[in-house]
Amino acid sequence: MKFDTPATTNPIDQLKIIGKPTDRIDGPLKTTGTARYAYERNTEVPNAAYGYVVGAGIAKGRIASMDLKAARAAPGVLAIVTARNAGKLAKGDFNTAKLLGGPEIDHYHQAVAIVVAQTFEQARAAAQLVHIAYTRAPGRFDLAAEKDAAQLPKPNPFSGEPETKTGDFPGAFAAAPVQIDATYTTPDESHAMMEPHASIAQWKGDKLTIWTSNQMIAWGVGDVAKTLGIPKANVRLVSPFIGGGFGGKLFVRADAVLAALGARAAKRPVKVALQRPLMMNNTTHRPATIQRIRIGAARDGKIAAIAHEGWSGDLPGGQAETAVNQTRLLYAGANRLTTTRLAVLDLPEGNAMRAPGEAPGMMALEIAMDEMAEKLGIDPVEFRVINDTQVDPEKPERPYSQRKLIECLRTGAERFGWSKRNAAPGRQRDGRWLVGMGMAAAFRNNLLAKSAARVRLDNRGMVTVETDMTDIGTGSYTIIAQTAAETMGLPLDKVLVRLGDSAYPVSAGSGGQWGANNSTSGVYAACMKLREAVARKLGFAVSEAEFSDGMVRGGERVVPLAEAAGANGLVAEDGIEYGDLDKKYQQSTFGAHFVEVGVDAATGEIRVRRMLAVCAAGRILNPKSARSQVIGAMTMGVGGALMEELALDKRHGFFVNHDLAGYEVPVHADIPHQEVIFLDETDPISSPMKAKGVGELGMCGVAAAVANAVYNATGVRVRNYPITLDKLLDRLPPVA
Ligand code: MOS
Repeated sequence: MKFDTPATTNPIDQLKIIGKPTDRIDGPLKTTGTARYAYERNTEVPNAAYGYVVGAGIAKGRIASMDLKAARAAPGVLAIVTARNAGKLAKGDFNTAKLLGGPEIDHYHQAVAIVVAQTFEQARAAAQLVHIAYTRAPGRFDLAAEKDAAQLPKPNPFSGEPETKTGDFPGAFAAAPVQIDATYTTPDESHAMMEPHASIAQWKGDKLTIWTSNQMIAWGVGDVAKTLGIPKANVRLVSPFIGGGFGGKLFVRADAVLAALGARAAKRPVKVALQRPLMMNNTTHRPATIQRIRIGAARDGKIAAIAHEGWSGDLPGGQAETAVNQTRLLYAGANRLTTTRLAVLDLPEGNAMRAPGEAPGMMALEIAMDEMAEKLGIDPVEFRVINDTQVDPEKPERPYSQRKLIECLRTGAERFGWSKRNAAPGRQRDGRWLVGMGMAAAFRNNLLAKSAARVRLDNRGMVTVETDMTDIGTGSYTIIAQTAAETMGLPLDKVLVRLGDSAYPVSAGSGGQWGANNSTSGVYAACMKLREAVARKLGFAVSEAEFSDGMVRGGERVVPLAEAAGANGLVAEDGIEYGDLDKKYQQSTFGAHFVEVGVDAATGEIRVRRMLAVCAAGRILNPKSARSQVIGAMTMGVGGALMEELALDKRHGFFVNHDLAGYEVPVHADIPHQEVIFLDETDPISSPMKAKGVGELGMCGVAAAVANAVYNATGVRVRNYPITLDKLLDRLPPVA
């Protein structure tokens, strides 16, 4: 189905099942521990051996020698694979560093060997006996030191142009009566998902099956095939349940490739879970940024000039964090400048983490907006309202498909009690707590991607949906079932959903908050084709057949859907493809975040007291799972504001806090009352579902809202995340 004109009324608009708060259909499997994750495939693979990954002990240099004798002789060892005996490996499309390193080492904890043994304990013990001598080479590990050497990166499909200029920024900024010029930093961050990267690989002849934990099945198949030099048709990836991804599982990593190599060498299926201490340095992370923002405005608050420049680093051939891109779109202003620069660093690969670009970008931009509002003496909500735009400010001929930023801001301000905020910082006390409120806009683009599905109707009237779409804890199973049920006129329990298998049609996958809108649109397209097949079979006019309550009506006749299926059932396959509506219209999602914090006046301890998010993200397919996405995102935003930081050893080039004890994320006790409001909207430009993404929007802006609340509470402006109490302590107002 080609979607190239705005959606008109369609079966989804019935909203009998779509739009209803619906429990996860996979919930019982999860809560009873019977959802089988990548590492839990004893039924299919009862005889798997265990692989243990050895990570490089240096960040840059060469393996001088590797002694495997003791490890080979250790009890239970079946095989050891290193770059020497692995055979030729190519780089896949998504491997900036090689997934099996040696003799050259690209980064710390790059995999250099897999030890395969009968048991996990034997593999781990033997891995300790692998002796490696390294020759270290000097590496580049410090973004600030490499900043001046950073270059404009090559554009890729997700990054946009590395530099944009509109009007005369330098002139307009110099002439502006009110200006700010401030620099912000965000640290390296880790996805730190609960389920580690894990895979079981099994060869049957030259056919390879990998049960793995991966967000993007088709990308993964392509990369496994490319890396191993085998045809794509010989690779099957299976990933029906994923214990968190956050972008860290967009690409196949060492666990999958080394399981395949280990299985080939041991002539046995091999299972590999990356040990937690390896994850932070072996896999990808969100790279640190330095961001300079300049804003010039008239005294009435209208922005005349806005510039956002960002720097980040990555391995040679890697990609930049596009932290400036939302600044191209979010606020009005005739004179604009944005640049993204990329430094070469010898750190582990920097790559996508939840809302790549906007998440760190909004952390800086929305503090800058708060600082500017204060300088102007204008309320921060009003300042954003004054600078709203209904068109792309760089390309005024492109309107937004929908843009309800002002409604989000106003609704949030009213519901949160924003009018009670004291604009003068450091004035609100509650016992030992300094109390403050902060807010930020939320913004994240809505991305369109092809997505296909297959649907079968059987003679019991059940519809089975098959697509390689993944559910990373987001609720994909449920919204896909809702979509099929709504389109086919069936109750939810008449739909079976099968996901995460490369044997199924290729979907958009889970990434960039595009999963929900695109994957359900693909399922909708396949169901519409199935409706056609049913109508034809029954001799009904396709446009007149009505599907409801498990029946098909055409003229005088009413036939149960089960009967229409016949003995052999009916199958239809289709997908959604997009025309150029996303070129003609800017498609984005909007929101507003409000936060109240208490800061201990003596110790600087920060406690979030309450949070509110208001989101405008097209039709909300399932308010229950969407709300869960947003409260999870708000929680992650608090982590970004107050806790998350990969501590970098700049001498040796590795992240020191590579476990969940040292890499801090919020726990339940850190998160108080959270409220989420969805504005009622449908976006007919985005897809037949009229939905957009929400899973990343919920995070964008949160950290800045926390930072702005800390400022309002204390009068201390922290521009370097995370806002830990050491950054406040000696700047707090004197305790009365
Ligand atoms: Mo998201 S960082 O594209 O999984």
